[in-house]
Amino acid sequence: MVKVITYGTYDLLHYGHIRLLERAKALGDYLIVGITSDDYDKTRGKINNQQSLMERIAAVKETGIADEILVEEYEGQKIDDIRRLSIDIFTVGSDWEGCFDYLNEYCKVIYLPRTEGVSSSEIRTEKRKLAIGTVGENSLCQKFIREMQYVNGVEHKECNQDFLGVDAVYIATHPDKHYEDVGRALRAGKHVICESPIARSEADCQELLTLARDNRLILIDAIKTAYSTAYSRLLVLAKSGKIGEIVSVDSVCTSLEDKAGEMGVELSSKQNSICAWGPTALLPIFQLLGSNYKSKSVISKIIDESLNFDGFTKIDFLYEKSVASLKVGKAAKAEGELIITGTKGYIYVPAPWWKTDYFEVRFEDQTKNKRYFYQLDGEGIRYEIVAFAKSIESQKKNLYISDETSLSICKVIEDYYKGEYSRI
Ligand code: CTP
Repeated sequence: MVKVITYGTYDLLHYGHIRLLERAKALGDYLIVGITSDDYDKTRGKINNQQSLMERIAAVKETGIADEILVEEYEGQKIDDIRRLSIDIFTVGSDWEGCFDYLNEYCKVIYLPRTEGVSSSEIRTEKRKLAIGTVGENSLCQKFIREMQYVNGVEHKECNQDFLGVDAVYIATHPDKHYEDVGRALRAGKHVICESPIARSEADCQELLTLARDNRLILIDAIKTAYSTAYSRLLVLAKSGKIGEIVSVDSVCTSLEDKAGEMGVELSSKQNSICAWGPTALLPIFQLLGSNYKSKSVISKIIDESLNFDGFTKIDFLYEKSVASLKVGKAAKAEGELIITGTKGYIYVPAPWWKTDYFEVRFEDQTKNKRYFYQLDGEGIRYEIVAFAKSIESQKKNLYISDETSLSICKVIEDYYKGEYSRI
């Protein structure tokens, strides 16, 4: 029996794919199709698949051409598969001409002519693009616009105060203005992704979330860390019990405004520490321990009274069976690490943890320590845009940041503005 194998993404299965599969099958007696996992595609820079792995597998299965389907999950898997499954022929389309010659050592390699005039990328872009406008701080907007280029199906469009001509808006204005700006955008019928916090009080945030829901619009926090693969995996791992029961979550996020550590003169246009870093630092605390803390104590170093500007803030949370702490600073510098302490071991994410592609799980017995590496492109902003666009398309809010987490973040900010802190 001649065994043939071929690999691909097979997003939005089209005529070109089917022709390839038919010809691949005709090369032998038994055809195995390797379909790339979403994670593996991410590492290859393909972040735009419209369909999930399960949907792509179902579509290939339905053609009835494949005798067997497997998932391709890592670089180098082809050699492992070919050996393990005693493959006689490896084949792919001619767009890969030459790329897999190294497999000749293990089996015969055949490049089949690619079908002209059709590709998943084209089908993806033919769908009308989602027009996203940006308002707010220039450098944040520029970064967001730059990252949009990597996401299929979205495009940047200039928008005015009425948000005319766009479907959605990225809001990165001063946090004091978020409530007003987000409200205006939602009332204009636009989907919104807003730099966190969405509002300066829990009630205002709730009002905006309700407004969005009632109008079938998406409103989400733009906390890029939440959308990165390493961070998502870390949450799953921490919750899986691998490090035992979680007893403490400690996160630190600081950045000095300028290199000399001076805040400069225009403090009024800048974000204070609790708004700039609070949401990111709070994220793992609320996502791992929930929002039902019994008490919290806040200590701030205020550097401008009239602007409510904290140069540094430390918060300690007390939960039923655990604790958490965070340190944020715009006028203080510390190691930006995240540590999740468990009864069996701990997870360590090195600085700057909020844009990491790597973390470690450590135990008393060091031989059991494990390092985890993931792909991170565009600091996670790219994935944030993909998630936003997918939510809009499916009309379902994504699960990266729940409403409860958004509200809990706003509550902490609200308490700060009420003056509920001690000073140093
Ligand atoms: N293929 C083909 N003819 C096409 C498109 C794809 O023969 N018009 C082949 C590819 O060469 C590959 C397989 O189908 O062997 C799966 O390709 P895949 O990368 O999933 O599809 P594309 O349409 O090329 O996707 P993209 O546009 O995202 O690159």
